[in-house]
Amino acid sequence: MIEKWTESSLLEIADLEKECFSNPWNLNMLKSAFETNTFQGFLIKDGEKIVSYIGVSYVLDSANIDLIATSKDYRRKGYAKRLIEHCIQFLKEKGVIMLFLEVRSKNEPAKLLYSSLGFEVVNKRINYYGDDDALIMVNCIGESNQT
Ligand SMILES: CC(C)(COP(=O)(O)OP(=O)(O)OC[C@H]1O[C@@H](n2cnc3c(N)ncnc32)[C@H](O)[C@@H]1OP(=O)(O)O)[C@@H](O)C(=O)NCCC(=O)NCCS
Repeated sequence: MIEKWTESSLLEIADLEKECFSNPWNLNMLKSAFETNTFQGFLIKDGEKIVSYIGVSYVLDSANIDLIATSKDYRRKGYAKRLIEHCIQFLKEKGVIMLFLEVRSKNEPAKLLYSSLGFEVVNKRINYYGDDDALIMVNCIGESNQT
C-alpha cells in the first residue's frame, strides 16, 4: 500500500536517509522539500514502519527524483520499483513528460533499477561526487502537446 508522506513521517525518513546514504538529507532538508508545493513524497510501510520512500519535484513538463531508498532488510522486494511506477502515474497526471534523476556511476543496484524501468543515461558529470561520476538519466513518460 503506497501512502503520501505526512509531516509525522519526516523523522523516520531522516533516519532511513542516514541508514542508506553517506550524504543523507537531514530533517530540515526534508521539511523544506515537504513544504514545497511542487514536491511530492510517497512511501511504503511494513505495519507502522516506513521501509521505502521516494521524493520527486516537478515543474512544467519536467520532474526529478530527488530521493529514493529502501531499508536494507527490505530490498529486492520490488518496493522501489513500485514507488517509481506510482510516481510516474502521479507525474503523468500533472502533465510531466520528462522524468530525470542523478545516480552515482558506481551504484549498480540503482542503475539496474532505473534501466529496468526505461531510464537512459543522457549525461555524465565527471567527478561530481569527488570519488565518483554522476550519471544523469531520463525517462520520457509522456507525449508533448506541441505539434
Ligand atoms: C537502489 C534501491 C533504492 C533499490 O531498492 P529496492 O526496493 O531493493 O529495489 P527493487 O526491489 O524495487 O528492485 C527492482 C529491480 O531493480 C534491480 N535491482 C535492484 N537492486 C538490485 C541489486 N542489488 N542487484 C541487482 N539488481 C537490482 C532489479 O532489476 C530489481 O528487480 P528484480 O529484483 O526482480 O531482479 C536500494 O538498493 C537502496 O535503497 N539503495 C541505497 C540508496 C540508493 O542508492 N538510492 C538510489 C540513489 S540514486
